[in-house]
Amino acid sequence: MKKNWLVIMVGLLLAVLVACGSTNESNDSGGEAGESESEKTLVMGTSADYPPFEYIDSAKGEDIIGFDVDIANYIAEELGYNVEIKDMDFSGLITALSSERVDFVLAGMTPTEERKENVDFSEIYYTANHMIVSKADSNISAPEDLEGTKVGVQLGSIQEDKANEIKEGGVDMEVITLNRIPELIQELKSGRYDAIIIEDTVANGYLESNEDLAGEKLPNTEEAGSAVAFPKDSELTEEFNTVIKEMKENGKMDELIEKWFGQDTVE
Ligand code: ARG
Repeated sequence: MKKNWLVIMVGLLLAVLVACGSTNESNDSGGEAGESESEKTLVMGTSADYPPFEYIDSAKGEDIIGFDVDIANYIAEELGYNVEIKDMDFSGLITALSSERVDFVLAGMTPTEERKENVDFSEIYYTANHMIVSKADSNISAPEDLEGTKVGVQLGSIQEDKANEIKEGGVDMEVITLNRIPELIQELKSGRYDAIIIEDTVANGYLESNEDLAGEKLPNTEEAGSAVAFPKDSELTEEFNTVIKEMKENGKMDELIEKWFGQDTVE
């Protein structure tokens, strides 16, 4: 009698297990069959102080817009992701990546060797140069002219490194760091700084709307490019690279470059 009970119990247990297994299986195959899977949301970290890469145009609304935002949306659309943007100071972006608080960073960020120790980068999607911006009447047009001046740079940027390099090269100047580019422009315009070093692609926009400012490209410096940054070993790097390559080939990248940087080249 006891033995029979045992057989029944084991039988029941097996039946339950099989039922569970088959339920799971049918769920899986349902997903694979392409039922509308909810799209995964990727969090993009950026520093929205950087027109035309990423900024808020308060005349147009409160959204972060720009070249990088368009690139992110295009790539996400192609890969079937949603994008949520997190704005923070530029100097905090690498940490946000390594602590995986964001899935990727699009912030006009240059893939330097130092940063590559902590994060991975996509291919470069746009190149730029360093520029010294000063008051139009300042006579500052080369690094030597920075002797005895106050020079502003963005904290954590490669322009901060550049300024320190010039200083170490023997030009006696004071290097001051701030978090946001519009603040640097303000300090320069008000005369508290003599010059700032930023990227030409960003400087050009400010030069157009500020006649009291002038810019001079830094001579003999290696080009600085922008790339997407990812946490180390993220699978997204490869996926993004495929789409970036596509965008360069199908004309989408040129279209966006024209849209965001092309105004002054329109005849
Ligand atoms: N390309 C420079 C760098 O990587 C500056 C980038 C600043 N980006 C920004 N969104 N503020 O250091």
